[in-house]
Formats: sequence, structure tokens, C-alpha cells
Amino acid sequence: MTILNTELTRRFGLRLPVLAGGLMWLADADYVAAAAHAGALGFLTAASFPEDDALRAEIARARALCGGKPFGVNVSMLPKLVPGDRAEAVFRISAEEGVTVVETSGRNPEPYMPLIRELGLVVIHKVPAVRYAIKAQSVGVDMVTIVGAECGGHPGMDMVGSFVNAAMAGRDLDIPFIIGGGVGHGSQIVAALAMGASGVVMGTRLLVAEELNAHQDYKRAIAEASERDTALTMSSVRNTVRTLANETTAAVTKMETDNPNVTIAELMPLVSGKIGRKAYETGDVSHGLLSAGHALGLTNAVTPMADIFAELEREVMVSLGRLDGARSPSEEAA
Ligand SMILES: Cc1cc2nc3c(=O)[nH]c(=O)nc-3n(C[C@H](O)[C@H](O)[C@H](O)COP(=O)(O)O)c2cc1C
Repeated sequence: MTILNTELTRRFGLRLPVLAGGLMWLADADYVAAAAHAGALGFLTAASFPEDDALRAEIARARALCGGKPFGVNVSMLPKLVPGDRAEAVFRISAEEGVTVVETSGRNPEPYMPLIRELGLVVIHKVPAVRYAIKAQSVGVDMVTIVGAECGGHPGMDMVGSFVNAAMAGRDLDIPFIIGGGVGHGSQIVAALAMGASGVVMGTRLLVAEELNAHQDYKRAIAEASERDTALTMSSVRNTVRTLANETTAAVTKMETDNPNVTIAELMPLVSGKIGRKAYETGDVSHGLLSAGHALGLTNAVTPMADIFAELEREVMVSLGRLDGARSPSEEAA
């Protein structure tokens, strides 16, 4: 049964109009299955499974765990087409393994649109600014997600907040759109819908799900962190990332401040994804760029995914009640 009726809930049979966004190293079959059973649409991160066979096996595991409920694959494309680019293979493997929807990000998906159409995939393209959403609409994506400056991970270079993005998207887009960046409360879902969105995407709020395959100490650190505990780094190499503030963000900030021309090669020993992966395994959050956003302020306990969604649902109902209460009696009479 659906609680809110939008293009997103209708298309995928969701209870709430929520996407559980791709999470590097964390969004696996258990994550998408937990999201699916909670009534949301989760995305398994293809980049976490660099070998094609491993990706195929994980999608098959997700299919079994989801028991007929939909899930998708996140295809984070590199900013530039480089030799060995895997996007095409991931689209093909996904379709062959019965996946019907992909969340793309990182680069204009235009070169892949003929293939995506041939494979019959629904594409939800994720961008960090409304101007890119307009471009994505023009190349024929089915839906577009716009994440604002508050988001965990890559907010882009414009750093416009989600509230402004939502109003602009409602004004400027014709295709269904999803709002993300700092979303972790049911009231924000209702607000996004009021602004014309078909739903929201969440990342940070879901990092405390018991089903997430990460060390308990990592999840506890996320639960205890506040909205003030993130740091922005990597702007000097035009790859801004919002992560949990820690020793790595302090060191990277120093390098970027000391030398505005610092190169990605110089930063790599500190920012390599391998270090972040280790933090998820060991629970030591002092090192690595560990994506997390302002929704840390709305993320207070480690609980099963179902409980997170039950809470969101209660918050949605309270917010809908507030809207009912805010309606002018004279308008009702008119
Ligand atoms: C730990 C973490 C890892 C992420 N990894 C990816 C990724 O690999 N690909 C991607 O497209 N988005 C990634 N994201 C972004 C999320 O899918 C989502 O768009 C974002 O978290 C929404 O903002 P929020 O964190 O404020 O909820 C990641 C986010 C987090 C928190």
C-alpha cells in the first residue's frame, strides 16, 4: 500500500516516494533488499563490484532477497570518458540480470541513451544543480534527481541548497524530478512533494541501518555525529566532497589551503577510496573521506531499515496534518 501517490510510487509500486541512493562500498544486495522491503527503491552500487562476475552475482543475490520487489543499479560514471570505462558493461549486465532501473551520476549520460533505450532500462540521472537537470531532460532521461549542497558525497561546484533547487526544478522541469541533499525527515518528503517533486533521495539518513554491512562503531559514530560534523574538501581539484570531519579532512584542508594548485596525485595518498573502505570494515572513522551530509543531524540511532521508514512515515503523516491545519477555512468555504 502506498502512503503518498506520485509518479515515483506508481511507477515502482513504492510505499513512500524515497530512493535509497547508491553508496560506494555500502550499497549491496542487503541494502537494496532492506530498502525494498521498507517500501523504497534502493540502488546497488556497481562500482563496489569491479569484476563483472561479482556484480552479476550481487545483482542475483539482490533479486533473490528482494522477492519480486524492484531495486536498481547505481552507475557512477567518471567525469570523463576514459579507456576501460565500465558504464556500458554495467548497463548490459544490469539488463541481463533483470534490473529495470538505473541511477546514473557523474557525467552527462547522453552517449549511453541509445543503449539504455535499447536495453529498456528506466534511467534516473542524478545531478548536483538544476542547470544540469535541464540538460539531462533534453537528452531524454526518464527522471532526474537534483542533490543540493547539504548532501553527503559530491555536491558539485555550485553549492546551491536543496530548498532552492526544489523550487527551481518545480518551475523549470517538465519530467518527474527527485530532490536530495540533507533529506532525513518525513516533513522534508512532504515539502519536496509540495514543491513539485515526485520523491526524495536519501543517503546519509540510511547509514545507520542495521542491515548496512559496515562496522557497528562506524554506524555509532554516524548516529552520534551532528549536522555540524561534516567537512568540504577537494574543491581545489574541482571534485568537492562532503564527508565526516576527521583527521583526513583536516589534513586535506591544510594541503589545499597551503597550495591552491595541489594536484589529485598529491592528495591521493590521503583520499584514496581504499582508506574509506577500511573505515567501514574496522569502524575507525578517524581516516578516509567518509561521505556524509547535513542529514547527520536527523540520524540519531542505529536501527533496522524498517524502523527508519516507519519513523519517516509517521513524520509524513504529521506534516500532512499540519498542511490540513494550515488550509484557510475561507478557502474551504469558497
Ligand atoms: C557513504 C555515501 C556513499 C555514496 N556513494 C555514492 C556513489 O557511489 N554514487 C552515487 O551516485 N552517489 C553516492 N552517494 C550519494 C547518495 O546516493 C545520495 O545522492 C546522497 O547521499 C543524498 O544526500 P544525503 O546524503 O544528504 O541524503 C553516496 C552518499 C554517501 C553518504
